[in-house]
Amino acid sequence: MTADAVSSSEPRGPSLDKDPRRIAGMFDAIAHRYDRLNRLLSLGLDRRWRRQAIDALDLPPDARVLDVCTGTADLAIAAAGHPSRPRAVLGVDFAAEMLALGHGKLAAAGLSSVELARGDACRLPCQPASVDAVTVGFGIRNVSDTPAAIAEMFRVLKPGGRVAILEFGEPSLPLLRSIYLWYFRRVLPRIGRLLSKHTEAYAYLPASVSAFLTPDAFTALLRVTGFRPVSVDRLTFGVVYLYVGRKPTES
Ligand SMILES: C[S@@+](CC[C@H](N)C(=O)[O-])C[C@H]1O[C@@H](n2cnc3c(N)ncnc32)[C@H](O)[C@@H]1O
Repeated sequence: MTADAVSSSEPRGPSLDKDPRRIAGMFDAIAHRYDRLNRLLSLGLDRRWRRQAIDALDLPPDARVLDVCTGTADLAIAAAGHPSRPRAVLGVDFAAEMLALGHGKLAAAGLSSVELARGDACRLPCQPASVDAVTVGFGIRNVSDTPAAIAEMFRVLKPGGRVAILEFGEPSLPLLRSIYLWYFRRVLPRIGRLLSKHTEAYAYLPASVSAFLTPDAFTALLRVTGFRPVSVDRLTFGVVYLYVGRKPTES
């Protein structure tokens, strides 16, 4: 039997191809169910994780905030509602349907301080050193060129500004890890497929988390890009990681 025959008989996981058109198409296809599934599958914790990310930015008064991979704008809306009252929040994403839902939420909430724009994380539509803070919620692992996107965030941040990045992780406590991975890899994809009617998106989620940079490697990437200091917080036992980096004032 040839090696090809062996590999073709194994069950195939979801494709991890990060081609921008494929990723945007996948999120557009699930956009109408995205928020509801987020709430359900995270047991409502996603709101708390986003609040913790905004708190970690230590926003100056009148801040300009950029939310990269904004999707339906939940993190941008959380930033706009923060007690520090940012002057302006711009959310950028390349998935038109996700942004359309975000626009609907902004209109319903009467939030005029938030704008949404279509764009790629690897070519941000912002001037150098023009924003006080950058956020990314559960988007960075989907970006085709992670180092390029991190370099773009560094470019657009003012010296002294912070980036806060939320991304899924895997708990390390042995018993909790086994239970969580059973839920994340077996239960979540089934519920996601059933409710979103998309065959792949919710199998792609755990697969893309496992394939993403380890917390140590991602922290190292933030440091190599120039962020200092870089901190890492494990939220909810490591189900989610919050990375915070500061762009130094002197280069
Ligand atoms: C899991 S959703 C997260 C949405 C939102 N940040 C949240 O907290 O719910 C990931 C989003 O990243 C977007 N995305 C992925 N790669 C991107 C890229 N290179 N440029 C812009 N958006 C991207 C997708 O279109 C999708 O809307």
